[in-house]
Amino acid sequence: MKIAFAKSELPTSGAIVAGVLEGRTLTSTAAALDRQTNGAVTRALAGSRFKGKSDDMLPLIAPSGLELSRILLVGLGKPASLDALTLQAIGGRALSHLNSVGETTAAVAIDAVDGAKLSPAEQAANLAFGARLRSYRFDKYRTTEKPENKPSLKKLTVMADDVAGAKKAYEPLDRIGDGIFMTRDLVSEPANVIYPESLAEQAKTLSELGVEVEVLGEKQMKKLGMGALLGVGQGSMRESQLVVMRWMGAAKRKDQAPVAFVGKGVTFDTGGISIKPAGGMEDMKWDMAGSGVVIGLMRALAGRKAKVNAVGIVGLVENMPSGTAQRPGDIVTSMSGQTIEVINTDAEGRLVLADALWYCRDRFKPQFMVDLATLTGAIMVALGKEHAGLFSNNDELAERLLAAGKTVGEPLWRMPLGDNYDKQINSDAADMKNVGGRNGGSITAAQFLQRFVKDTPWAHLDIAGMAWSDKDAPIIPKGATAFGVRLLDRFVADHYEEK
Ligand code: BES
Ligand code: MN
Ligand code: ZN
Repeated sequence: MKIAFAKSELPTSGAIVAGVLEGRTLTSTAAALDRQTNGAVTRALAGSRFKGKSDDMLPLIAPSGLELSRILLVGLGKPASLDALTLQAIGGRALSHLNSVGETTAAVAIDAVDGAKLSPAEQAANLAFGARLRSYRFDKYRTTEKPENKPSLKKLTVMADDVAGAKKAYEPLDRIGDGIFMTRDLVSEPANVIYPESLAEQAKTLSELGVEVEVLGEKQMKKLGMGALLGVGQGSMRESQLVVMRWMGAAKRKDQAPVAFVGKGVTFDTGGISIKPAGGMEDMKWDMAGSGVVIGLMRALAGRKAKVNAVGIVGLVENMPSGTAQRPGDIVTSMSGQTIEVINTDAEGRLVLADALWYCRDRFKPQFMVDLATLTGAIMVALGKEHAGLFSNNDELAERLLAAGKTVGEPLWRMPLGDNYDKQINSDAADMKNVGGRNGGSITAAQFLQRFVKDTPWAHLDIAGMAWSDKDAPIIPKGATAFGVRLLDRFVADHYEEK
């Protein structure tokens, strides 16, 4: 689907989308359509439950007096609450409707609304962003889908008088969209296509945008002493990889310590010898979502030329049971020198992150590290699929992440850390064990990670409940969500970029 911006002008074919405020107050375009259709708009409103709330929609098909195929009235809510997220959601819902009814072209009228927080140009850009995000589809392996079941919309024109302003506001959002789509693609691909080496190849494509990408193989990781990460991958035919991406966008201070993002990239998690039950195991193709988000985030930052030095590191392994697989009870030595007794080979993500986090702080001395991981089933027990878990050793970092999450609609909920939880992972045989018992499973997993960050400001996002969605949402079709890309892009933009 193509998205374009143009001056406001009633189209002569296809569909038009026009806004109606709460209380059924027509925007200027809706009022003009009402006149041209001899009052059909007001009559349709009167005969419906449409009140103008921001999730209301009302289609008028083949309106007489016009050559258009359809008028789609969309509720805008109250002017004061017409913010970026609301507009994105309106764009997403409208797009989904147009796609399902078979429209091929549509124009959206953005009219000046008294009391709105955003300029019409910003409104246009956000509506377009929402429409684009909802248009995502992973259908490359569907060869027999009937055309009438496929999305129909080919072109969406967003009309605002300040065309240049709308395009300018859309440009960075479009680049963030590129990052989100890349993440969704990587997370959606099955594990026979995306495995450590092929995922590293995908990360390498970022070099086209000016990202420096290095890939470390097993030999190099062995030299570095990454026994924790390598132990997870040792049962797989696929070679484990560690990918280091660097975007050096701080023009004024090239020597500025980077911000760092670290992702869990288990390209398939069978559980290893502590094997998972068969039911639902296919979901574990998206156990690399943390790394997919880090890669997509780097793409977004580079794409919009963010003025920041950022490092992205992803640890890529496949967790398989085999004759060479790690066994419960094995003791491995991490790059930090700390030893780990592997009680459960299914608690593998923390083993991968232990070495990736240590390597990150050791080599880059970053301002902070944020890791993302589909780390525990327990975080879904605690928070459902409404918040990702946030764990941090630094209140300022935590507050900033919480705020960014609220702003973009990717909510986090802060969880506790503490010595008594930490004790749960002490081992009699080694410095620590990789599980801490049934209670507080997400917290003991975070305590484990904390042992590998020392005093570096650090936050851990447990995204197990958020990486994949079973139902459509206004700007997130069901499937891979790319949760974290918008959040961390905003977090960087708000606090770490040169002005
Ligand atoms: N990748 C899983 C966590 C997960 C489960 C993510 C479901 C998304 C959906 C992780 O590697 C895992 O297996 N965790 C175990 C830890 C346990 C063995 C301590 C879990 O949560 O059961
Ligand atoms: Mn596991
Ligand atoms: Zn896992």
